[in-house]
Amino acid sequence: MNITIDGSNYKVEAGERLIDVINRVGKELPQVCYHRQLGPIETCDTCLVEANGDLVRACATAVAGGMRIETKSVRADAAQRQAFDVILANHMLYCTVCDNNNGNCVIHNTTKLLKVEHQEIQFQPKPYEVDATNPFYRYDPDQCLLCGRCVEACQNVEVNETLSINWEDPNPRVLWDGGKAIGESSCVSCGHCVTVCPCNALMEKSMLGEAGYMSGLPKPILNGMIDVIKGIEPDTGYGMILNVSEAESAMRESRTRRTKTVCTYCSVGCTFDVWTRDRHILKVEPSEGLANGISTCVKGKFGWDFVNSPDRLTKPLIREGDKFRESTWDEALALVARRFAEIKAKDGPDALAFISSSKCTNEESYLMQKLARAVIGTNNMDNCSRYCQAPATAGLFRTVGYGGDSGSIRDIENAGLVLIIGSNTAEAHPVLATRVKQAHKLRGQKLVVADLRKHEMAERADLFFKPKPGTDLVWLSAIARHILDNGLERKEFLTQWVNGLDEYRKSLEPFTMEFAAKTCGLTIELLKQVAHMIVEADGVCILWAMGITQHSMGSDASTAISNLLLVTGNYMRTGTGAYPLRGHNNVQGAGDHGAAPNVLPGYQSVHDPEVRARFEAGWKVNLPSSKGLDNHQMIDAIHAGKLKGMYIFGEEIALVDSNANFVQDGLAKLEFFVAQDVFFSKTCQFADVILPASPSLEKEGTFTSTERRIQRLYQVLEPLGESRPDWRIIQDVANHLGANWNYQHPSEIYDEIASLTPLFAGVTYERMEGYKSLQWPVAPDGTDQPLLYTRKFAKPDGKATLFPIAMSLPTDPPDQEFDLHLNNGRLLEHFHEGNMTYRSKGIREKVPDTWVEVSPELAKERGVQSGTWVQLISRYGKLRVRALLTERVTGKELYMPMNSSESPVNLLTSSYTDAVTNTPAYKEASVRMVVLDEVGNSPLPKVNSRFGHPTPQRGVEVERKWKRIDYEMPKGEPVPHGEPIHAAPKGQGVNGDR
Ligand code: SF4
Ligand code: SF4
Ligand code: SF4
Ligand code: FES
Repeated sequence: MNITIDGSNYKVEAGERLIDVINRVGKELPQVCYHRQLGPIETCDTCLVEANGDLVRACATAVAGGMRIETKSVRADAAQRQAFDVILANHMLYCTVCDNNNGNCVIHNTTKLLKVEHQEIQFQPKPYEVDATNPFYRYDPDQCLLCGRCVEACQNVEVNETLSINWEDPNPRVLWDGGKAIGESSCVSCGHCVTVCPCNALMEKSMLGEAGYMSGLPKPILNGMIDVIKGIEPDTGYGMILNVSEAESAMRESRTRRTKTVCTYCSVGCTFDVWTRDRHILKVEPSEGLANGISTCVKGKFGWDFVNSPDRLTKPLIREGDKFRESTWDEALALVARRFAEIKAKDGPDALAFISSSKCTNEESYLMQKLARAVIGTNNMDNCSRYCQAPATAGLFRTVGYGGDSGSIRDIENAGLVLIIGSNTAEAHPVLATRVKQAHKLRGQKLVVADLRKHEMAERADLFFKPKPGTDLVWLSAIARHILDNGLERKEFLTQWVNGLDEYRKSLEPFTMEFAAKTCGLTIELLKQVAHMIVEADGVCILWAMGITQHSMGSDASTAISNLLLVTGNYMRTGTGAYPLRGHNNVQGAGDHGAAPNVLPGYQSVHDPEVRARFEAGWKVNLPSSKGLDNHQMIDAIHAGKLKGMYIFGEEIALVDSNANFVQDGLAKLEFFVAQDVFFSKTCQFADVILPASPSLEKEGTFTSTERRIQRLYQVLEPLGESRPDWRIIQDVANHLGANWNYQHPSEIYDEIASLTPLFAGVTYERMEGYKSLQWPVAPDGTDQPLLYTRKFAKPDGKATLFPIAMSLPTDPPDQEFDLHLNNGRLLEHFHEGNMTYRSKGIREKVPDTWVEVSPELAKERGVQSGTWVQLISRYGKLRVRALLTERVTGKELYMPMNSSESPVNLLTSSYTDAVTNTPAYKEASVRMVVLDEVGNSPLPKVNSRFGHPTPQRGVEVERKWKRIDYEMPKGEPVPHGEPIHAAPKGQGVNGDR
């Protein structure tokens, strides 16, 4: 279609927003409330244009063929000015001393665009105080434009539903939980609202007084300067004042760096710019990330204090008796090389083992496994995906062929029904959860949740049910059988794309509805309801996590999920597929890049002579051909006296492996142990040499998210002290062992990976420049696959396999002595045991400690209240922890978040593992609870968001603004440029309490 804009002809797509077209063709148009990722909010009226002679909001108008648009006609211009005058009356312009004066302030730029010299409606302060009760950001009502972007972001993007605007009030403002202090509201500090605020009304506290040259001046001086600025404005107009502020803003450019990075916490793969001034982190600004857009959670937006923590390791340390002493790098590396060489000479290469980090980069995992295989000569190589994701990978290998999510977050959004099993998605993968919450709230997507706990996604679900612990395999298989028995399967899909139906159908014989109902503690009606919801949905995505995988039958349960998807034809198109949500930021990448005992990078078997030959030619060495030890077997091998030396980096094995007492006893027995980390972790306590590493902000490389999305991180800061990026340290160790590696930059490492690994053949740093990314597999020409299996499955004949599975029940069941089932998992605020997040003051304020969740009925029976200290005793260990009463758990179910190094839940878990992958059965633990005669404060302070009361609504609800008697849509009548109508109060500084 064609339209004309200001007399010129343009091609447009049907349905495009007029404002997007205007922006695309480079016309300048005011647009205060419009943000492309929020869509039209229609609160500001500044985008008014003439369309075929009528005044319309460009943001809310879809183009139609033949439209005639005037953006600068006398009427449109006058309407835009009238609208902006109303908006500006809410805001005190003091740009030169404002921390938001960074070239991207919408209100500043619109003032300039419209060449506003004087306000017709003068600023009047609002009768509200600044609210600084959140540890990370503050709200200044006097600067608030009432544009509603924050409300829209909170209600419809984050879907935390905390914010609203009281449009009916004489003095509207943004409200938290309908009028609570921010710090006592349901706000989860995700920062969406702060990110999208077009001015300084919502600001990161880390910016305040830090971003500008003069914004850090003492308040009286600052207020005096504001008064001076306002005093000269009637004579000079805003033009000259803005010129001064722009000169100041330009000066900031020279000292403020904006560097793109990838979040180091969970696997969603959020990317953002980090603004820094020297080592001070001014703010995190998400905008263009392909996984997250404007979204972050509290950790990615605000959880970076750990980088500058005084606890950082900055020098190598060498054990001397019970103590450590600082050493030079040369001494430490020489010692590591000498001891590794001695152990290899005495006991052979398999007496050494190597553990890679799912927090570190792909290149670093690649180098670690190359060190193990090519330099030492062992396949004793693993990473922590063994602890969580290996069973999901196994289930997908068995059935569809690739060990990764079958699509992207966008494909999940497109599903008719999302089934979440054993995943606390809103806390463990917060930004991914926002997309499901959005689709559910705004687009009618159905949500079914199966979990032991009634977490946020369960609260939101159309259907929530609680199978008995460890029985998911049973109800999933029973549903599949019911579908097949009743002819509800997708027959054409099965015929064309799937092998093994008969054998699979036979394997389902034991899984009757009656058996499943009894075994899982569910009703037959409910199981049938779930089956029919799946069959009837227009596309089903199943999301699962550690509630499935961390069981003794984790691989089989993951297989059952994929089987169910195949039976119902839910692969090969958007809105369908299997999504095992990966945990750490790079747990997918660590596995992808060969940090495993049986495969080289790209899941190429160590047993395959052709594969080995390729790597041997590339690395110019001979490679071991037998499978090595996984990290679970490594601990057993230490106890058995077979494993003598170990090198681990970025991995807190002493706390995160199950049966922690057994693991720690093992680590203590090692003859020589090298730990490489950012902090002196629990694991470091057992080391002989500790090598100080740099966190993600201090290095370059790539991470691979749960979407199989490979993304570059750029170096934000120099390594602190003498710490070094892990890839450099691993190279140093290799070279002290005679390897002669010479990588100058991680891109060179990736070139080598791509040359040896078909899965990543087309991956180059150039193709991932800036915010660009690639989702593997990547063909040599750079073509990637955001959605897998669109043409065939990754199996030899292109067909998927229905993989028969057998019944199995969980280990370590409750009995008379250990009568309670203990579940555990992640928490929104802290990542894992909290080595990084406990170093954030704000996060500590919100969640200072761990707890055990106790149901109200159990609490009543045992005389427990929130704050009561209890001792939990399992067959493997014990710990002390405070109780927290909550209805999220019921009956004899307990739940402990993992966020503690003092009382880590793994003191209680067993050494039972998944039969296929050796993943510990963390979720199968029984304990008894001894109530101690000691009551403290509740472990969860009242300032935690869980005590808040959200106020859900459909968005900013601008219609309520339009109903105000003082609202009138600008008509575009020319405004006389006279003297200000109302004089601003002077003397005390209008924002005296700022
Ligand atoms: S939850 Fe809090 S930080 Fe996040 S958008 Fe809502 S008000 Fe803002
Ligand atoms: S606080 Fe909200 S309503 Fe106020 S200016 Fe910022 S985004 Fe707009
Ligand atoms: S922790 Fe996960 S959801 Fe939060 S910002 Fe980082 S990648 Fe995104
Ligand atoms: S940008 Fe269109 S109404 Fe605000």
